[in-house]
Amino acid sequence: MADSKTAIVAVTVVFLVATYLYIRSNNYERSNCPSVSKVFADEVNCLRILQAKASNQDNHGLRNALQSRALPNQRLTVAFGVDNAFTTTSIENRNMFRNQSTSLLRQPFSNSGWIKLHHGLRSMVKDALTDKSILLVPLVQSLTLRITLAVLFDLNPIAIPASVAEELASDINDIWLASKCGTIPKWRTQTRTHMLLRSILPSTDPLNLAENPMNFILPAYETLWRVVLRCFIEVLYRGPRASRTTWRRAIQESLSHPKDSSVDVSKFSTNNIAREALRLYPPTRRVYRYFQDPATGYPEVEAADLEACQRDETLWGADAKTFNPDRWMTIDDPARRLLAFGDSPFRCPAYNEFGFRMIILLTGALSEGVGEDYELQYGSCCELPEWGTPLCSGRRSYSQVRLQGLRSCN
Ligand code: HEM
Repeated sequence: MADSKTAIVAVTVVFLVATYLYIRSNNYERSNCPSVSKVFADEVNCLRILQAKASNQDNHGLRNALQSRALPNQRLTVAFGVDNAFTTTSIENRNMFRNQSTSLLRQPFSNSGWIKLHHGLRSMVKDALTDKSILLVPLVQSLTLRITLAVLFDLNPIAIPASVAEELASDINDIWLASKCGTIPKWRTQTRTHMLLRSILPSTDPLNLAENPMNFILPAYETLWRVVLRCFIEVLYRGPRASRTTWRRAIQESLSHPKDSSVDVSKFSTNNIAREALRLYPPTRRVYRYFQDPATGYPEVEAADLEACQRDETLWGADAKTFNPDRWMTIDDPARRLLAFGDSPFRCPAYNEFGFRMIILLTGALSEGVGEDYELQYGSCCELPEWGTPLCSGRRSYSQVRLQGLRSCN
């Protein structure tokens, strides 16, 4: 009797384990990308890796470059079901995606596009600030996502419910973090995210590789929100008060004269604020490339640590770790020095104006709404590091920080 009971328990355990493993193998995929073998933080090697050149290799074709980028990005295909410039090895598909992105990013430059986006943002910020205490990260994520969706899919940002944008942003963050582990959850299991996407973009199919709206959302939104969050904190809450006043004035001026992107306030350009935010907080902190070792034939992945390179004191001076937009006033070739948008042949189509404008627009609309009426409250988070030490760049950092209203309601 005891033997048959033990046998039943054993069979049940084997069955449960087998079912668990079966479900897991269907819902997850192991990353087969080789682990990173070398990380470089010097400018020469970072540029070489951005250009997708193996060491001692001068000339290589675009096809090789695409292959060296696509392999480390395969996790994005598993996790987000994307097929775009970052994951393809086809020159034709990459060129098509790049051209589509470039033309989408031109849209706000015609038909008063920037003015309309600014008005939309103003009203979204006003609605969000009706509460006295607001979590900052979900606010920045939801505003950035709604504005990005408006640009990419020609939508009215106000028509996208803030709650849907917040949930979608939070899903994207969770999936991104999970995709960094060895076992990656498969995109087709993310049914809540599909539902949210379909509710905003009913005519697209998230499960169709070519149509999946994440193809565009990922490179655009994922890069923007993190740099906007940090730019906003730097401009409003860190640094000497006189500098903060100048930065805020310059941003407000440029938003009221959107035709001239670089309005001068005491010879100060808002592009320098965006550039400095991108220098200190490059959203793509590391860029990975796959190469085959010519001697051994073994595959290896090399990383360009853009964040470390752009904070290097030997290149940027003793104040390299301080947010100081003025430094750009004396830099000769700013486009070459800023690595945050990558380099040829893969330099980001947003590098030419669009990226700067979006950062300034979002930072500006938030700072207009917040004015002098809110302070930061840290909850269980640590306070901000002291001036001269960069803010944390982690994806989960500052998740408990709140904008706390200073005025009491009468
Ligand atoms: C501040 C915002 C942005 C930053 C910092 C940024 C950063 C980058 C970086 C570092 C690369 C090079 C990747 C590599 O070499 O593997 C890149 C490429 C690219 N980015 Fe962005 N990006 C931003 C915004 C956008 C937006 C809004 C879009 C719109 C869809 C976009 C679309 C692309 C595309 C299509 C490429 C690939 C270009 C190619 O293959 O030639 N990016 N971006």
